[in-house]
Amino acid sequence: MTEAAAAVAWRLGADRVESARDRQHAATLGLTPINDVPALGFYIERDDDGLVLRHAADPAGTGLRCALADTTELADRQAGGRRSPLARAFGLHRHAPMRVLDTTAGLARDAATLASLGCDVTAIERQPALYALIEDATQRIHATPEQRPVWWSHWQWPVHADAADWLSADAGQKAFDAIYIDPMFASPRRKSAPQKALAWLAELAGTDEDAPALLEIARAHARRRVVVKQHARAEPMAPPDLQIRGRAIRFDIYLTPRA
Ligand SMILES: C[S@@+](CC[C@H](N)C(=O)[O-])C[C@H]1O[C@@H](n2cnc3c(N)ncnc32)[C@H](O)[C@@H]1O
Repeated sequence: MTEAAAAVAWRLGADRVESARDRQHAATLGLTPINDVPALGFYIERDDDGLVLRHAADPAGTGLRCALADTTELADRQAGGRRSPLARAFGLHRHAPMRVLDTTAGLARDAATLASLGCDVTAIERQPALYALIEDATQRIHATPEQRPVWWSHWQWPVHADAADWLSADAGQKAFDAIYIDPMFASPRRKSAPQKALAWLAELAGTDEDAPALLEIARAHARRRVVVKQHARAEPMAPPDLQIRGRAIRFDIYLTPRA
């Protein structure tokens, strides 16, 4: 139930051995297979480093990749360690790593950071092109044992679903210590232009108006806490038990009765 989510095509490279498999997979995910760079909008395509998200307005640009495929960015994020606002929001500066469900995976930057800090992370994404990027990066690392990062055993296979539906179905099987929600919101009075990744995600996935409903479901399922990332000046979705403040963002923490 996103508002203004954009459609995405999958540009198949005629000269790539993966093309037949990719065509099938595009159909499974509901992405339109195309051969040429489209006149407008987003598309994904495969190069030697895996799937990349591109925009028709910038076909020669670097595009965007899943964080699992961008080891430099991931190393920077990991360097923040257990004292970073994200890690503290999960209590990792005090407690042992936990089993985390990231219900809003996006490019999997936060999910991969949490896995690199030792949490067992399952990432869910409902936007099909973004899910394709995460799944492809997972598959590529899985297929090359010598390139797996040391924390790879903490990365669980990603899920393509709406997290609220997925959590509600067969809930007894899904035990997570912490559930993470990083919804896409219209930013309150932004002074500077958003960075490319954020601007593209906003255009691609739309705003997540259903996040308050997801929070309710998450609070009913998390064993210990639900962590919600918000813009620093945004109203909390519900009164939180704890808050961790970063420079531009804030984490609202909801402790569950079982905490
Ligand atoms: C702001 S982005 C998350 C960025 C992410 N934390 C990262 O590190 O890259 C929000 C993402 O959550 C996804 N999303 C929002 N609500 C969802 C839901 N109920 N189930 C699955 N995915 C959801 C959107 O499609 C979008 O890709």
